Amino acid sequence: MQLLVNNQRCDVAATWHDESLLWVLREALALVGCKYGCGQGQCGACTVLIDGEPQRACLLPARGAEGRSITTIEGLAPAGALHPVQQAWVDEAVPQCGYCQSGQIMATVALLRRQLVPDAAAIDAALAGHLCRCGTQQRVRRAVERAAAAMDPGGRS
Ligand code: FES
Repeated sequence: MQLLVNNQRCDVAATWHDESLLWVLREALALVGCKYGCGQGQCGACTVLIDGEPQRACLLPARGAEGRSITTIEGLAPAGALHPVQQAWVDEAVPQCGYCQSGQIMATVALLRRQLVPDAAAIDAALAGHLCRCGTQQRVRRAVERAAAAMDPGGRS
């Protein structure tokens, strides 16, 4: 099986074909930015982009991602650079333990591709399924707004 991950074709050994995409990414391809939280689609820690849409990698069989474009947090920006959403996370000092943050960032990237100037309701809807036991939700909201302002060429934010 071959997967297209972060614009690179990756060969995946047959022993992994029946595993979830999460375990293939983490264990077979050493892309550990996506996290195992609940394994049941409830927490959002494993979120990656599939053809640009956020999906729970713990629920998706790796075979289901064949022929599709998979983006993990490692592929958001060129080496040595940060995506504007990642930069906003740094600027707002969002993470506490950090465990849920890559999933939240991936969901935010997808949101801002759909809606460059999201209102509070859109932000809440996009991140509603992402659990954070550290209580960073307010900082997450500020970071989304900061990223939106940085990415908005019209400066409408
Ligand atoms: Fe996938 Fe929790 S680990 S949603």
